Amino acid sequence: MISLNLVTLLYLVASVCFIQALKGLSHPATSRRGNAFGMVGMAIAVLTTGALIYALARESAAIGLGWVVLGLLVGGVIGTVMAKRVEMTKMPELVAFMHSMIGLAAVAIAVAVVAEPQAFGIAEAGSLIPVGNRFELFIGTFVGAITFSGSVIAFGKLSGKYKFRLFQGAPVTFRGQHWLNLVLALVMLGCGLWFMVTQSWTPFIIMTALAFVLGVLIIIPIGGADMPVVVSMLNSYSGWAAAGIGFSLNNPMLIIAGSLVGSSGAILSYIMCRAMNRSFFNVILGGFGGQAAAASGGAQQAQRPVKSGSPDDAAFLLANAESVIIVPGYGLAVARAQHALKELTDKLTANGVTVKYAIHPVAGRMPGHMNVLLAEAEVSYEQVFEMDEINGEFGQTDVVLVLGANDVVNPAAKNDPASPIAGMPILEAYKARNIIVNKRSMAAGYAGLDNELFYMDRTLMVFGDAKKVVEDMGKAID
Ligand code: TAP
Repeated sequence: MISLNLVTLLYLVASVCFIQALKGLSHPATSRRGNAFGMVGMAIAVLTTGALIYALARESAAIGLGWVVLGLLVGGVIGTVMAKRVEMTKMPELVAFMHSMIGLAAVAIAVAVVAEPQAFGIAEAGSLIPVGNRFELFIGTFVGAITFSGSVIAFGKLSGKYKFRLFQGAPVTFRGQHWLNLVLALVMLGCGLWFMVTQSWTPFIIMTALAFVLGVLIIIPIGGADMPVVVSMLNSYSGWAAAGIGFSLNNPMLIIAGSLVGSSGAILSYIMCRAMNRSFFNVILGGFGGQAAAASGGAQQAQRPVKSGSPDDAAFLLANAESVIIVPGYGLAVARAQHALKELTDKLTANGVTVKYAIHPVAGRMPGHMNVLLAEAEVSYEQVFEMDEINGEFGQTDVVLVLGANDVVNPAAKNDPASPIAGMPILEAYKARNIIVNKRSMAAGYAGLDNELFYMDRTLMVFGDAKKVVEDMGKAID
């Protein structure tokens, strides 16, 4: 009914769609097209695999086609409902949940292959699985198991609504944690090698159980705010697990899609770490922010005087400017002030003010967080600029309006080599002629640091919830 050549061709088409999807998703203006490519590619991959299974089922009664269809229906319905219901700020949790499912699927497939290799065409009934396949199964299983349990913990930490200690944002640390992880990892790898040599169930089960435990232990010392980097890392792991299983099953689609996910997740983790000027190990070993706050003596410095004003004062500055750059941050997302902001900027633009938005790569708490918020409020892409594109313009700008952002505009990153964020690229808001900063208090941002920008002569602090403040500014401009 379906030839193997046709299957290969369709898998190739699906793979090209996935590559186009990644390319499209790299810019907000092309992201919808990217998403469409991803959906088409996935539909082709699923339907082709379904047709292949159907063809095999006609040849061998051993394959339960009904189960496959049931699985597709149940998975498809759950996925659709979850994706429709999820709020934008809950996106990282959904992603963590999906990674956990990929990890679990990789383990389940590996167990099935070890139990009945002949059903997958890997070995004749009664004979041993070839050593190469055993190696791939060993890698795919432990990476899948770590991805599953690690993603479950990441999901709990990101949702922040469960009482269970391991699901809370605060890092869970204990003496000798890293040594315990190292010993467990070595025993796990030893069992994997033992399985490779003997194909026995005992080392396979011990290895899988240890990998589940390790997934938990690796993620619990990491704070909730670092979870986006961790989710992206787990994304990468889930891709490699899928690719490993793809090799075992001799399925090119799984190998290609898994490698794309694996490498893009690794690149994203790298980009995020670089934008925060932190090494990958610094994130993984956890505990960022707490010591930084103590070292900077943040509370002491917060006593210094600042120039503060009302939303009306800020509106006056904005309305009389020729050029305005808006710097959105985490606080804007928390306050859900994007729609009020769009109304405010529309009024300014109608009055002849040039308005631009400046986006820092790690503003907010997940990659692209600010782009998505602004897109939700239908801000034009032409007004939105990446850090490198806009940093040269701050010096010639009349007013910079910083809304719920802190670390991403902290000049200490450039001026203070002893600062924990020294070297982190920032939006150079401090160069503007006037700076308006809106936040609720003098409290520190994610990195726990005081911010010299707030104390400058040219800076006006407007305290209050971002949504209320922006709405009041809008009313004052009417
Ligand atoms: P932050 O440095 O966390 O600062 C956000 C500021 O928003 C806070 O100082 C807070 O001050 C204010 N705020 C909170 N709620 C508010 C509200 N309702 N209205 C007005 N202001 C409010 O955020 P940022 O500048 O966006 O920087 C992001 C940080 O997160 C960076 O350190 C980055 O490294 C880190 N991070 C980012 C990511 C990704 S991928 N985006 C991943 C991991 C970590 P008040 O409490 O005084 O209001």
